[in-house]
Amino acid sequence: GRDTKIASDLLAHYDVHARRLPWRAPPGANAADPYRVWLSEVMLQQTTVAAVGPYFAKFTQRWPSVADLAASEDADLMAAWAGLGYYARARNLLACARAVVRDHGGHFPDTEDGLRALPGVGAYTAAAVAAIAFGRRAVVVDANVERVVARLFAIATPLPAARPQIREAADRITPDARAGDFAQAMMDLGATICTPRNPACGICPLRDDCAAVLTADPAAYPVKAAK
Ligand code: ADE
Repeated sequence: GRDTKIASDLLAHYDVHARRLPWRAPPGANAADPYRVWLSEVMLQQTTVAAVGPYFAKFTQRWPSVADLAASEDADLMAAWAGLGYYARARNLLACARAVVRDHGGHFPDTEDGLRALPGVGAYTAAAVAAIAFGRRAVVVDANVERVVARLFAIATPLPAARPQIREAADRITPDARAGDFAQAMMDLGATICTPRNPACGICPLRDDCAAVLTADPAAYPVKAAK
């Protein structure tokens, strides 16, 4: 069955401690803008929150909507992207913006499947945008979430073989309501408390829900395959 205690413990903490990131709707506001959520999620692939901040500000000032971005010149977008790396992401960004305008009237599809069909939108991005921008229940698993889940359940199988198990566990703890907040709360936890090394278990809101904290070395999860 569904485990609801983890989500309620985590969301209570998130309501107080959520990082005020520029692509998040402020507490109490309407849902986040799908364009801003999508743009941030693409930028955050392989790039840290701190590094993305100034790029996100620059892009959203210059191209406030997906239609503005779709109308940009390839060279202008590539120049604005310079420094973020992984330039295929920038090319996909433009292809996706143009598809949203051409095929969807400038509105992002509001389901995981619909999003997944856009150029450059993979399983992770589709789940993240569906949950964060549209309030859909979607299972959002990035490297941070993977680590948090592996620790919560002290999953002993090494990566990458553990991935299906981690995904199943993430599915079990994802709530029907506030799946987007839940996903972002898991990411915040992984970035600030349940860190790769020296996790701050003493201040963790999921301390009482965590199997790894009862072991000698919580940081040993997720278990890496022997080299
Ligand atoms: N990393 C990727 N997406 C994120 C988000 N929405 N919030 C915080 N960190 C993230």
